[in-house]
Amino acid sequence: MKDLSTTSGPKRVTTRTIATMKKEGAPIASLTAYDFLTARLLDQAGIDLILVGDSLGMVFQGHETTIPVTLDEMIYHAKAVIRGVERAMVIVDMPFMSYQVDPQEGFRNAGRVMKETGAGGVKFEGGERVVEMVYQTTQAGIPVMGHLGLTPQSIHQFGGYQPRGTTSAEAKSILRDAKMLEEAGAFALILEKIPTKLSAQITKSLKIPTIGIGAGVHCDGQVLVVSDMLGLYEEFHPRFVRKYVNLADTIRQSVGTFVADVKKKDFPNKTESY
Ligand code: KIV
Repeated sequence: MKDLSTTSGPKRVTTRTIATMKKEGAPIASLTAYDFLTARLLDQAGIDLILVGDSLGMVFQGHETTIPVTLDEMIYHAKAVIRGVERAMVIVDMPFMSYQVDPQEGFRNAGRVMKETGAGGVKFEGGERVVEMVYQTTQAGIPVMGHLGLTPQSIHQFGGYQPRGTTSAEAKSILRDAKMLEEAGAFALILEKIPTKLSAQITKSLKIPTIGIGAGVHCDGQVLVVSDMLGLYEEFHPRFVRKYVNLADTIRQSVGTFVADVKKKDFPNKTESY
């Protein structure tokens, strides 16, 4: 990872850059990454913020939910991602049960992520119940991103992936949580799968940027799971995902051609041999 003070490489995105982007109305582009190669490509393409999301439990490990992901696994993936990044800010998701039991434990685990990976910050899901921990963590100098709306670690409590904040009571509670997270020191907020009107209201009410996923166009930035937008993950396709390429088909075709070439002894040819 490049030194923050370097003058030769690209200028690293920091919490200060993110805050300025909100002030100047410059949209923040964010994607997830779980490995070195992908992170390097995203960084070279100009992504502002890379999230080492616990979505890796689904799109990388093949689980049905994000629940089984461990803190050690998050640290392993974050280290690989950070080796590929020169410019983007890298945020690491705190996985299920690394912070829910006791704020002190969450705070300590966040510190472990920062020390062992070199990340720029951590992300916690939830509102009021994590506010005290967010306060302690930010007071210790660790940048924290919040995550409200459809928070996948609570999927069993929600009973499915339906949009959140669709009733006026739930919308009010999400807005209140957003304000509490801002007051506790969070530097940004992910808003997942909530109505456009609600995300617009939250975005307007906060000084910190909102980054939407399935939350409409009025957020200060947008994030997608990289495996969804590249057309690699085929298990389900939420409406908010725009597929920019179908890499699953490209990979199947390329591998099919390789298999055929090997079978007919067309690979390797003379120039590919010594
Ligand atoms: O885990 C993840 O990838 C996330 C994004 C969907 C925001 O939390």
